Amino acid sequence: KTRVFSGIQPTGQITLGNYLGALKQFVNVQHTSDAFYCVVDLHAITVPQDPKQLRERILDLTSLYIAVGLDPTQSTLFVQSDVAEHSELGWILQCVAHMGELSRMTQYKEKSDGKDSVTVGLFTYPTLMAADILLYQSSFVPVGDDQKQHLELTRDIAERFNARFGKTFTLPEVLMLKQGARIMSLDDPSNKMSKSNPNPQSRIEMLDPPDLIRKKMSRAVTDSDREVRYDPKLKPAVSNLLTIYSLSANKSIEEIEHDYQGKGYGDFKKDLAEILVAMLDPIQKRYAEVRNSGEIEGILARGAERARIAAKPTLDLVKRQVGLGSTQ
Ligand code: TYM
Repeated sequence: KTRVFSGIQPTGQITLGNYLGALKQFVNVQHTSDAFYCVVDLHAITVPQDPKQLRERILDLTSLYIAVGLDPTQSTLFVQSDVAEHSELGWILQCVAHMGELSRMTQYKEKSDGKDSVTVGLFTYPTLMAADILLYQSSFVPVGDDQKQHLELTRDIAERFNARFGKTFTLPEVLMLKQGARIMSLDDPSNKMSKSNPNPQSRIEMLDPPDLIRKKMSRAVTDSDREVRYDPKLKPAVSNLLTIYSLSANKSIEEIEHDYQGKGYGDFKKDLAEILVAMLDPIQKRYAEVRNSGEIEGILARGAERARIAAKPTLDLVKRQVGLGSTQ
């Protein structure tokens, strides 16, 4: 089976953008692949975190993984810092990556912009991400559009390593939706929907109660005129809502455009709110069960065990290739 790897940071509340762009893909490929899904807590600490809250959010995110349909007996669900190989390979890859290529990462530029103190970890973040992926000899990495540049860097690092030290890493490919890889904010369609946006109206969160979803949808910005039509250039807000509708209702955009011919944005947004409520309701119920089941710690312990077994041969090989250690 093909190896798949992906991860999500346990920071803030997981959004509809994370779900449609990434998590849903995790579920879709889990039965046809040997998948590793990681809670990337080491990435989370590149910006300040409250320790108690971080611990809770690790369990929250794992519960959400299961609530959306990831099966811990099929996929390996684990926490990044439980598997020391990530940090070890991360260091080695820091000695392969170049300052210049890391400086060009747009996520780094955005996250460091205007800050007077930025951690070194925020800068070297992509080398740890490369380690996550390459450690498992992953063939496919399901992510949203904002991670594409990091994936390209991962391939560059892997190619450079293979050329210098001999064939070691599988070159991973990005697995990205044609539509939905970049869900935009509800209040501003020129920004991507993000869990770190200070305005909670900008996003739907996976655990938002039905009335809040309805309220956020009714306030979502639209475009001038009143036609429900897909045109990302001229109608970015409505096109974003159409994308969300299409992915959530499993209907094509053309079909939806047809259904709303002659109707206004009001009906369209009301229906979309109900579709989201219906999609999220079973996930939220399952989440509450799982989160309180007392089973999460055990699932993560077994996941870490499996992840270590999968990761160790690659790290051993890397160390041999580079000439590290006393016993190789
Ligand atoms: P993170 O935690 O920011 O986001 C998790 C996943 O959600 C996707 N995503 C979106 N997709 C569509 N529309 C949006 N508005 C949207 N916002 C977020 C992201 O692209 C991502 O797939 N660096 C990664 C975590 C990571 C990782 C990895 C991913 C660490 N190591 C190894 C893959 C492989 C991140 O910060 O994702």
